[in-house]
Amino acid sequence: MPEINRSLDNVGTGFAAFLSPPSPEVIRFSVGQPDFDTPQPIVDEVKAALDRGETTYTRTQGSVELCQAVATHLANHNITADPQDVVITPGCKQAILYAMMATLDAGDEVLVLSPAWPSYDGMLKLLNYVPVHVQVRRDNYHPDFSALESAVTGKTKAIMLNSPNNPTGAVYTPEEIEQLLEFAKKHDLWILDDMIYATLAWTDYPYTSPSSLPGGEERTITIGGWSKGWAMTGWRMGWITGPKRVMDGVKKINVSAATHVATFIMPAAAVALTLHEETEIMAASFKERRGIIHGLLKELPGLVVPEPEGAFYAFCDITGTGMTDIEFANRALEEAKVQLIPGSLMEGGEGFVRISYATSPENIREGVQRLSVWLNSL
Ligand SMILES: Cc1ncc(COP(=O)(O)O)c(C=O)c1O
Repeated sequence: MPEINRSLDNVGTGFAAFLSPPSPEVIRFSVGQPDFDTPQPIVDEVKAALDRGETTYTRTQGSVELCQAVATHLANHNITADPQDVVITPGCKQAILYAMMATLDAGDEVLVLSPAWPSYDGMLKLLNYVPVHVQVRRDNYHPDFSALESAVTGKTKAIMLNSPNNPTGAVYTPEEIEQLLEFAKKHDLWILDDMIYATLAWTDYPYTSPSSLPGGEERTITIGGWSKGWAMTGWRMGWITGPKRVMDGVKKINVSAATHVATFIMPAAAVALTLHEETEIMAASFKERRGIIHGLLKELPGLVVPEPEGAFYAFCDITGTGMTDIEFANRALEEAKVQLIPGSLMEGGEGFVRISYATSPENIREGVQRLSVWLNSL
């Protein structure tokens, strides 16, 4: 029998083992997706596009209107994007893969601020690139610049950036983004900036793009999408933009790999980017839930929980309970009927658990109460 791709042996399955739907009485703090329906004007537009018969092949990088809409949206984040250099992808996930494929050669090392969303590690390994995990600070989950400096080798080619962050909920300050950019300039690195949670920052400073800072545009690949801020996870829509020579490569990859996303979804995705009230209501609701869950979690014995700054995750240091994170997650499910994600599914996440607060305030109160009863009984 022929062999299969040997790289697959190194690729994990992310959070899958702890995401399987539990019995109905379990409170799920595990799922990282908005608990809202996609706003109605977006849904109406996809139906209208189908009725208009928009079901044929179209421009591969994405419709002119949608690429323009993304460029206009990015301008709100002080990112200058030429609509000609925007490519629409099947999910932000595929945009990240394209960014890696367009900038890296086999064997190149990529600095990953860890613990990190596990797909970065999987994608890099799948393509024979080398993830180099660099632990963030334990007190606030922000970058540790001396650790980053020590991790650089002659093979380091890029740094993966994700702020607001999954799993830690950290939002890096504008000064830190500037420092990351200076670091990237010093070592001549690409910055792959996954801005999927950009509209969900609860800090008094916003998501800051390295591309918006002097000298940042030429080395930043900006990647984002509709899943989190617009409650569109199932639509599988993302974007990527960056310097022209990178985007020429991305366009080649996209033509070979996907052709384009579904034609009739594109007008709806453009409508999404014009909505403000709907997205602000969702964001405000997550911010409120952040306050509720943090107030409750910090009372739990053995847990240390910095205030979550963005996205919809609370990242808890559980070492004070004396349990490993896997034991904590398994026992929380069994004994407290609460499902959460153990940190060691991500390199550098040992001793932590991720709690998603993208669930109702009632579930948040009930779930943390169950954890409280359980932990206090130990
Ligand atoms: C940090 C991060 N980037 C990207 C994605 C994937 O986004 P999409 O659903 O658009 O592929 C996720 C989804 O959980 C995420 O947490």
